[in-house]
Amino acid sequence: MRIVPTYNSEGLASKMSSIMEIPLARVTRRRFADGELYIKIEEELDESIVVGSTYPDQGIIDILLTHNALKNAGSKRQILVVPYFGYARQDSMFQPYEAISAKVISDILYERFEKIFVVNMHSPEGMAFLKDKGIEIRAEVIIGEQVAKDDNDIVVSPDDGFIDEARNISRVSGKEAIALEKKRISDTKVQISIPDDIKLDGKRIALVDDLISTGGTILEASRILKQHGASKINVYCIHGLFISGTSKYSGFVDSISTTDTIEGPFSKISVSNLVATKLREYLFL
Ligand code: R5P
Repeated sequence: MRIVPTYNSEGLASKMSSIMEIPLARVTRRRFADGELYIKIEEELDESIVVGSTYPDQGIIDILLTHNALKNAGSKRQILVVPYFGYARQDSMFQPYEAISAKVISDILYERFEKIFVVNMHSPEGMAFLKDKGIEIRAEVIIGEQVAKDDNDIVVSPDDGFIDEARNISRVSGKEAIALEKKRISDTKVQISIPDDIKLDGKRIALVDDLISTGGTILEASRILKQHGASKINVYCIHGLFISGTSKYSGFVDSISTTDTIEGPFSKISVSNLVATKLREYLFL
């Protein structure tokens, strides 16, 4: 068996390889002059664990070509780990005749892989598209452990959508969890308010969310929390996309910690042990 990272998950795959004592496959990956991807597996193998996110778009092409090259190299068994499942947010038709991207991507993966492990899919609806092949890995425990280690008084979710996860983080960290109220105005703008009965004077906040994309949610939540007397804002999120860079957060929040589902300057919390444990259970290793 070999672990085979796509281009966006090399760090995580290499940690998994050390923990699971399964070597990384030897792969040649390069781009043609026009930017198209070329992949060659440099050894024969019988079983493989592909590690790759479906974000950005080229991650999807990388998974598909890696799968095909592995098949051609003899891999009869292919398991996929998707650290960050891109395209998961459009998990239904919010307006008539929209493409349901979570289903499209799930169908493509379903027909190719034996099992598909996903770290914190955006919604249960998205996970359901993977039917019997999908296994979700939940990262709230490791976020909760980090929240407990840092100086925090209260766990705050920016909206209702993440409150169950915030409660799980609260159970692990021993800090109370509350949710703010969020209304999305546009792709980049949100309006956030704090329920009247909540007092935050001098409190050190662990602001938790599943995803930081434009950062609109986290920055607006931080502004409102400070306005209501919070003394410190530590941000924790599972998937840190940071699509408009990371510089704009300094001065607004005191710290940012994300997992390494997407590798970047704030990926301080690794999901490698969680993923390795789930894979071992499945593979009886
Ligand atoms: C919303 O459903 C998610 O939990 C995140 O709050 C959201 O996707 C973050 O996006 P942004 O960083 O663009 O506000």
